[in-house]
Amino acid sequence: MNMIPKVAMFGTGYVGLVSGVCIADFGINVICVDVDKEKIDGLNNGKIPIYEPGLDVFLERNIKAGRIQFTTDAKMAIEESNVLFIAVGTPPKENGEADMQYVYAVAETIGQYMNGYKVIVDKSTVPVGTGQVVKKIIADKLKERGVEYSFDVVSNPEFLREGKALYDFTHPDRVVIGVESEEVAEIMKKVYRPLYINETPFVITNIETAEMIKYASNAFLATKITFINEIANLCEKVGANVQQVAMAMGRDGRIGPKFLHAGPGFGGSCFPKDTKALVQIAEKHGVQMSVVNAVIEANERQKKMVAEKLEKFAGDLKGKTIGILGLAFKPETDDVREAPALTIIADLIERGASIRAYDPQAMEEAKKALRKYADNITYCKHAYDTAESVDALVIVTEWHEFRNMDLTLLKKIMRGNIFYDARNIYSRKDIEEKGFVFIGTGV
Ligand code: UGA
Repeated sequence: MNMIPKVAMFGTGYVGLVSGVCIADFGINVICVDVDKEKIDGLNNGKIPIYEPGLDVFLERNIKAGRIQFTTDAKMAIEESNVLFIAVGTPPKENGEADMQYVYAVAETIGQYMNGYKVIVDKSTVPVGTGQVVKKIIADKLKERGVEYSFDVVSNPEFLREGKALYDFTHPDRVVIGVESEEVAEIMKKVYRPLYINETPFVITNIETAEMIKYASNAFLATKITFINEIANLCEKVGANVQQVAMAMGRDGRIGPKFLHAGPGFGGSCFPKDTKALVQIAEKHGVQMSVVNAVIEANERQKKMVAEKLEKFAGDLKGKTIGILGLAFKPETDDVREAPALTIIADLIERGASIRAYDPQAMEEAKKALRKYADNITYCKHAYDTAESVDALVIVTEWHEFRNMDLTLLKKIMRGNIFYDARNIYSRKDIEEKGFVFIGTGV
């Protein structure tokens, strides 16, 4: 099929915005669509709703080149484009299942306004089998309208890390494309042409396999983190050092060094949601997902352990003040969804402590998420402000600016002497030399 791709991107959340901007940067015309008018107006005026390093530069140059536009007009976007990406949210429901209402609503809209052949690409993380549901929704809508247009559905999961999303989109380890025909795969290769000619591995497979690859990858990474977290807990008891264990394990090419950093548990919008959704999908099909189930449980325990360990070292936390450095679920993002800091702060307050907290980017988001505890939290201007008169200081997120703090100054302004480095970014020796009591994770 000799088709020049013109892309519509439904959803200007994290995935949609980054994907839309990066595809525009590949030289393709992209129309980003969202139902949120305020967001669209903001984007048309260069206002980016999320913090992601480099996104402003990419956005500006593609707006200047006239390759990207933002609209709430779904009809126009569908009529003007031939490759329609669905990149809307699939938030978890109470039972862990993915809430599919936004994906299905976009599919309906596409069926409603389709005016010729279209490729519909699912980029949202969706339960296995969604591609076929999307296909049916569109076919039913076309039937209702009494029109006949051919279309193809594709699964094209994303593997972006927040904070490194632009790099990940433009330098992927692989591009996964689930299709039902060779011709559609060729169209998708055109969308990703700069990567394709650069010899990025393309995994062309069926829709269900592509959908499964996403869940299996995220669940495996979450397992790797949880595994090293549990080893860290044991290291603490037996006098071993988890960083050296992880480094030596990682040298084994079969294991690999990445995602073996022990810490206060994984958070974010993906791992917690996707592990739970995978368990749900497996349950529906009568398949045991015992490893992933154990990962979910162990991760909850890991987050809880921070307050427990602190209590062990500091004694009763009632009336104590604890400084928390880092609220985002990881550095270089303002995202606090499922962030360990939220659980840790709630636990400490439940134990009677007051909190001083700071994050370089996530203060507003954290204030919203921790609204319930507002009376017990003082939001601070920087790390040293946070340390003012606290009994213990806890590094929860490893932002660069926390890596090289003036320890002498910290010691002077803190009331107590407990330095809890949950991310192992300092050495025990350096901290103890300054007269602190050091707590780490498995070191
Ligand atoms: C994750 C995956 O890494 C991406 O490949 C995937 O595309 C994305 O989810 C998604 O499904 O959209 P992300 O959630 O942005 O990306 O962040 P990660 O860098 O993977 O970190 C997740 C959590 O694990 C963070 O809380 C981080 O602190 C924690 N982590 C990570 C560790 O505790 N130890 C590690 O060694 C690595």
